[in-house]
Amino acid sequence: MRTEDLEQLEIDLLLEGVYRRYGYDFRQYARGSLRRRIYKRVLDERVASISSLQERVLRDPQAMERLVLELSINVTAMFRDPTFYLALRTKVVPLLRTYPFIRVWNAGCSTGEEVYSLAMLLQEEGLYDRTRIYATDINERVLQRAEEGVFPLDKMRGYTENYIKAGGRKAFSEYYKAGPRGATFKRDLIENVVFAQHNLVSDRSFNEFNVIMCRNVMIYFDKALQNHVHDLFHRSLINFGVLTLGRKESIKFTSHENCYEAIDGLERIYKKVK
Ligand SMILES: C[S@@+](CC[C@H](N)C(=O)[O-])C[C@H]1O[C@@H](n2cnc3c(N)ncnc32)[C@H](O)[C@@H]1O
Repeated sequence: MRTEDLEQLEIDLLLEGVYRRYGYDFRQYARGSLRRRIYKRVLDERVASISSLQERVLRDPQAMERLVLELSINVTAMFRDPTFYLALRTKVVPLLRTYPFIRVWNAGCSTGEEVYSLAMLLQEEGLYDRTRIYATDINERVLQRAEEGVFPLDKMRGYTENYIKAGGRKAFSEYYKAGPRGATFKRDLIENVVFAQHNLVSDRSFNEFNVIMCRNVMIYFDKALQNHVHDLFHRSLINFGVLTLGRKESIKFTSHENCYEAIDGLERIYKKVK
């Protein structure tokens, strides 16, 4: 057997073991980044091979927790891709104004920077009071951090720049208090937010939404899993509901390509039309 095939087999067995032992299903995540992440665990856990990592993870739930953290890449930022938020403000907000009540699903919200950004935008547009945001992620740890709402102070300068480029209407510093633990964001921003664990691979839809925001999550999934998630989103959106994806993602070439029209193709903002 070639080395690459053996490696493939070891990865398959690790993922199958993780699924059967813990119920976390990473079997359809894109292989390239999965492989890099698994090797990082092999190094950090100081084991000799992927098979040895498998043994450790199956016997030691804490090693499993570390693996989940590694595989569920949590990189995020406030007002990430500012022009996306600007487009949201100018092209989606007018549509949202027509609804008496707005339900948003922020899927794969990570540590919450996206949720806080959205809440600020909706507050400034006078829509937050009639909005409920369901912020979900596979990883419980990041959800706890999102709920705490304390973010590193050294990020605030970059976030302020993003906020301005995104069309922010206030001084960004009005939204947080600087302290020894970091920048603590105002609690009223998450007054209408429900944080919950939800796995896009195995869990079902739980409501009907006006907006689904799932950015930089499906990029880590293989094609079949992406289509599975698109099916879930399509069933969870109301007619003319809005779907937003990450900059490197697209509705094109997915199973649901024909169900959406672009509101802003460059910013990956789509409207469900059938
Ligand atoms: C790179 S972050 C993106 C965060 C944010 N949406 C953004 O664009 O800045 C990807 C997030 O997807 C979450 N994720 C990965 N697999 C998931 C799954 N199967 N179900 C739900 N969330 C998942 C990860 O835990 C991580 O927090």
